[in-house]
Amino acid sequence: MNSASKYIRLSTGFNMPLVGIGTYKTTGREKIFNVLDEALGVGYHSIDTAAVYRNEEDIGYALKTLLNKYALERDDIFITTKLAPSDNGNPQRIRKAVETSLKALGTSYIDLYLVHWPGTGGIPEDSIENIKLRSITWQTLIDLKSQGFLRSIGVSNYTIKHLQLLLQDCHGESPAVNQVECHPHYRQGKLLEFCKKEGIHVQAYSSLGTSNETTLLKDPIVCRVAEELNVSPARVLLKWALQQGIGIIPKATSKEHIHDNFKLDFTINETQMKALCSLPQRKYAWSPDNVV
Ligand SMILES: NC(=O)c1ccc[n+]([C@@H]2O[C@H](COP(=O)([O-])OP(=O)(O)OC[C@H]3O[C@@H](n4cnc5c(N)ncnc54)[C@H](OP(=O)(O)O)[C@@H]3O)[C@@H](O)[C@H]2O)c1
Repeated sequence: MNSASKYIRLSTGFNMPLVGIGTYKTTGREKIFNVLDEALGVGYHSIDTAAVYRNEEDIGYALKTLLNKYALERDDIFITTKLAPSDNGNPQRIRKAVETSLKALGTSYIDLYLVHWPGTGGIPEDSIENIKLRSITWQTLIDLKSQGFLRSIGVSNYTIKHLQLLLQDCHGESPAVNQVECHPHYRQGKLLEFCKKEGIHVQAYSSLGTSNETTLLKDPIVCRVAEELNVSPARVLLKWALQQGIGIIPKATSKEHIHDNFKLDFTINETQMKALCSLPQRKYAWSPDNVV
């Protein structure tokens, strides 16, 4: 099956492509345009951004031209963006943030809006205040969803503890997605199990070990499996997630990488999967573990 035809039905009833293009650190009008031109051309229909990436406006600008170029309607593509941690817990700022993202992206609705981080800018990670602020954020997002600005709402970097607290106080609207770091070096087994039980789709970020490091891509077991399957190590890492029903949003700016990451119609066998699931654990991106 071609990657473009794979969707997950979220708890909100909307379908989300399992493969999207990540855009953290992809900035500049021309660069964004070229990346999205290539990505839409290959068949990606999902774009992941965030207010803090400061590229929403350039994404909106590119889409104005590119949707026409590829004969796509707004509804054919899925846009995810995220609330900046500095806006958590403040209904006025949250409404303003959503308004700003909508305008920058040139759209009347956002497919998936995520709370980027369980903590709040300016509030210590260990402050109990974070719990109250998260609750206010969620209530505000529910309102914005009911007004039609957000189709699905979710969270990012939430641990089991953050999710348990949210579910106790979610006014009947549980998060559709939890976007977290997840790859063979940081498998998140317990979180995956918890989210499955609660109907929360897990979307993996930093599947390739971030833009700063190549340790994961050079892992000897990942490379051995890649060689056995005659695919690149990146494809093994991405397929490792997809094969478990985990969504992926690899970031790529090179044409070759954008194409490579969409060729995922192969199977990792049980022995290879076992080997990938026995690697020592290490986190590459920011950790929410200490956020109360
Ligand atoms: N919610 C959060 O807190 C959070 C945190 C981090 C990331 N994210 C999201 O997840 C996305 C992906 O994570 P990430 O940006 O940390 O990075 P990533 O996807 O783990 O890795 C990106 C790096 O891998 C390289 N690459 C891409 N495809 C490759 C391939 N086929 N072979 C070899 N190298 C390849 C890219 O190079 P080139 O650019 O040169 O092609 C780039 O340097 C982000 O862009 C963002 O949208 C979310």
